[in-house]
Amino acid sequence: MTRFLYLSDSHWGAGDVGYHLQPKYDEHLPELITALKKWMASAGSVDFVLHGGDMVHETKDADIRAAVDRFDLGIPVHLCLGNHDITSAGSLETWERLAPQLFGNPAAVDHGAAGFAIDVEDCVIHVIPNQWGTTPFVWDETQDPHFLDSQMEVLDARLAARPDATHLISTHSPVFAIETGQTGLEGPFHSPAASFAEVVTAVAERHGVTCVLGAHSHANMNKEHTGVNYVTVSSFVETPFEFKLFEVDAHSLSMETHNLQDRVEFAADYDWNSTFVQGRACDRSIQKEWTR
Ligand SMILES: [Fe+2]
Repeated sequence: MTRFLYLSDSHWGAGDVGYHLQPKYDEHLPELITALKKWMASAGSVDFVLHGGDMVHETKDADIRAAVDRFDLGIPVHLCLGNHDITSAGSLETWERLAPQLFGNPAAVDHGAAGFAIDVEDCVIHVIPNQWGTTPFVWDETQDPHFLDSQMEVLDARLAARPDATHLISTHSPVFAIETGQTGLEGPFHSPAASFAEVVTAVAERHGVTCVLGAHSHANMNKEHTGVNYVTVSSFVETPFEFKLFEVDAHSLSMETHNLQDRVEFAADYDWNSTFVQGRACDRSIQKEWTR
């Protein structure tokens, strides 16, 4: 059984600016990490934390160093680079220079910020940060989620290498919009390009992937499509400071959404007009088992 936490969109260094759906408290990240450590101490052993991207708000050496220092949780922390993590040329090299430990096992051949696998007992999590514009690993406001051919080739090979394992994919862009049944809005929320959904659903179905993790929207989602769960998580630094606990083995996957609202000392507002961010019960948990 592998137990890991999935959280995202900490946007360290954002200050007064930046997209958010609930009141944001990125400057309180150190307190949130302390609260998370206390939660972990009461929750039983956790193998690692996967950060779904936008660890920082802009690619600056000082902010990366500070964010990585704050995410010292006493267990491995991995990062799937988000658009805000790659706001300048050379971002990939910057992350690999400053924080190589976030991108898989440094001893592994295919370790690196461009994509890596967290290969554990009964499951493999394939981390593949999506591209956004015409220059690989640079975000310049364009939001056209896609993968490089080279990333897809490596992903296909990794997925094929362990046919008996439970496979998850982690990327930063959501694969699907959040539907009106959850949001109550007039149309779908945070729709990615249809071409991105086509590529990801095809690779997931080709290899029997169990779950695809996304972030970026700052809202919880759990959409089941042809037997695959497409999940996103709300921002870790927005009230009520949510994250997900995954428990995975060869024949089952469970996901529960937890929060740190009652564990922080600072006053945090909540926007009761945007409760869709947290989602319905069906958007917040998964319990599934299968036989192969
Ligand atoms: Fe993002």
